[in-house]
Amino acid sequence: MKIAILSRGPQLYSTQSLVRAGMKRGHTMHIVDHTRCTLVVGRGRPKIYYNDFQLERFDAIIPRIGASVTSQGASVISQFETMQCLTVARSEALLQSRDKLRCLQKLARCGIEVPRSAFVAVGQDLMPLLREVGGLPIVIKMLESTHGNGVILAETYRTAESVIEAFQRLGERFIIQEFIREAKGADIRALVVAGEVVATMKRQARSGEFRSNLHRGASAEVAALTEEEEEIVRKSVKMLGLDVAGVDFLRSSRGPLVMEVNASPGLEGIEGITGVDVAGKIIEFIEKRWSELRNYQANNR
Ligand SMILES: Nc1ncnc2c1ncn2[C@@H]1O[C@H](COP(=O)(O)OP(=O)(O)O)[C@@H](O)[C@H]1O
Ligand SMILES: [Mg+2]
Repeated sequence: MKIAILSRGPQLYSTQSLVRAGMKRGHTMHIVDHTRCTLVVGRGRPKIYYNDFQLERFDAIIPRIGASVTSQGASVISQFETMQCLTVARSEALLQSRDKLRCLQKLARCGIEVPRSAFVAVGQDLMPLLREVGGLPIVIKMLESTHGNGVILAETYRTAESVIEAFQRLGERFIIQEFIREAKGADIRALVVAGEVVATMKRQARSGEFRSNLHRGASAEVAALTEEEEEIVRKSVKMLGLDVAGVDFLRSSRGPLVMEVNASPGLEGIEGITGVDVAGKIIEFIEKRWSELRNYQANNR
C-alpha cells in the first residue's frame, strides 16, 4: 500500500516508528507536512498541491496532527477523505476529541464518568460553581493545553478567581474541574488500536507536582487494567468515533474518570515502557481495513 503520515516532524519518534513499521510490512511510506498542503475543491476532482506539485494518490493516511494546527490538519484529512483515502482518524473525530470540553460533553452524554467540570461564563459567581466541582482545590485547564501546559491547580479562592479572571481577559477558553486528590499525581494512559486496548501505562508525577505528563518529568511503568477500566476505555474511543487513540483516566474513589482521548497519541513513551509495537498494530489495522474495503468494492461492483 501507499501510506502517508501527516506529520510536521519527520524526525519525531512516532513518525519514524510508523515509517519503520510500514516499510517492514512492504508498504511505501511517505511523510507529508499537512501545513504545506494546498487544497483544491469544487468542480472536477479534488486535489492537493504539496510544495508546488500535485500530490499523488495514497491508499491510506495516518494523521499525526499537533494541537496548534488542529483545524488546518482536519481540513487536510477531510480532503483526503473526499479523495477516497482511508484514514486512521477521521476529521470530525479529531476535532471532537481535540477540544477538551466537547470531548467531556460527548463522554458524559454517553454515560462515561468524567471529572466534574464547568465552562465558566464571564461574570459568573465563583462560589456556587466551586461547590459544583467539589470545592477547593480546583483544576483550571486551558481547553487546548498539551503536555500539562495551561493546567493549573488553584488551592485558594483568591488564586482561582485571579486565574479565571486572567484567562477570561485573554479570551482563553478553559474549564474548571474537580481535583481528584486520591489519584496522587498518577494517571493511566491506555492505547487503543482497532477498538482493542493494546498497551497501558501508569504515569506518576514527580514529587511536588500533580501533573503526570512525561514531558514534565513524570515516571511511567506498565499498568494492568481492571475489566471495568478496559470496558470504559474501549467505550470512550468508540463513542468519539476513533479507531486509534490514547485514553487518559484517573483512578478515583468513585471509579475511573476519563480526562481526555487523544487522536494522535505519542508512541515513544508507551512503546518504550511496554515494549509493545503499537506502530506495527496501527499498520496491521490499516491493512485489515483496506482489504475489507477492497472486498466490499468488489462485491458491489
Ligand atoms: N482533575 C484532575 N485531578 C487530578 N489531576 C489532574 C486533573 N486533571 C489533570 N490532572 C493531572 O494533570 C495532567 C495534565 O492534565 P491534562 O488534562 O491531561 O492536560 P494535557 O492535555 O495538557 O496533558 C494529567 O495527566 C493528570 O496527571
Ligand atoms: Mg494529558
